[in-house]
Amino acid sequence: MSEAVYREIVAGWKAEHRALFAFEQLDYREVTGSTNDDLLAKLRGGSADHFHLVVADSQTKGRGRRGDHWEGGRGCNLLFSLSLELGPNRDQWSRLPHVAAYVVGSAVESIFPPGDRIEAKWPNDLLCNGRKMAGILVETTLSPKPYAVIGIGLNVNLRLDDLPSELRQTSTSLYEVLGCESNRWFVLGLILQGFLEIYPNIPTSFDDVLDWIAPRDYLRGKHVRVITAKENVEGVATGIGRGGELLLHDSDEQTHRIISSEKIEVC
Ligand code: BTN
Repeated sequence: MSEAVYREIVAGWKAEHRALFAFEQLDYREVTGSTNDDLLAKLRGGSADHFHLVVADSQTKGRGRRGDHWEGGRGCNLLFSLSLELGPNRDQWSRLPHVAAYVVGSAVESIFPPGDRIEAKWPNDLLCNGRKMAGILVETTLSPKPYAVIGIGLNVNLRLDDLPSELRQTSTSLYEVLGCESNRWFVLGLILQGFLEIYPNIPTSFDDVLDWIAPRDYLRGKHVRVITAKENVEGVATGIGRGGELLLHDSDEQTHRIISSEKIEVC
């Protein structure tokens, strides 16, 4: 089964990309706890390194940000984690959720009908028509050396009718937008190629990422309340800074740079 999955992922790839993603870099599992947990364990144990992919049909302990549970849908969505070796410049690590949003969002838009767009909601949700299509959870390990694990859950062939009622109003999938099923492995192949293209160039190409996000920025221009570990900040979201932080302009004309948040409410 893993070989068939690998063949479908790399079908149509150029040789230059295939050379950077060999069959041994893929771990396909029908069921697992969490692909992020699996990949972190592999990295720490030395059985994976840069550009290793763990992908599962379903997760029993899929994790979202702030300890949320991530609903997967058996065999119909993409649930995967990709390792990226981190360079010494820590300022750039906080850019990764936005790089991931750009890569996944561009891949999805490439199969959207012309004119349809993804919305990127800081820090790392991808929406379509205000409903969540994908979530991104970036974690790091420093041992044996610094790696990021980019965990992505993308609703591909999910039917809203199959979701618990409380998620039906706030979620969407490629299926719901396109009105037909997509080949999950083809979509995954597009995303992996996106990472192969951009990752070596993040220091120079982050401006392209910000330029891509700006017209798709879900929070931009909205009045929001951000709850952080230290304080609550209210203001108008004005965009994303060069370190990946949310820029918020308050009523005293002060600009706040929010690095992380517990919760964001659109007022
Ligand atoms: C969020 O929106 O809170 C982020 C959700 C990230 C979910 C993905 S699914 C694959 C990977 N494994 C996990 O346990 N979580 C991420």
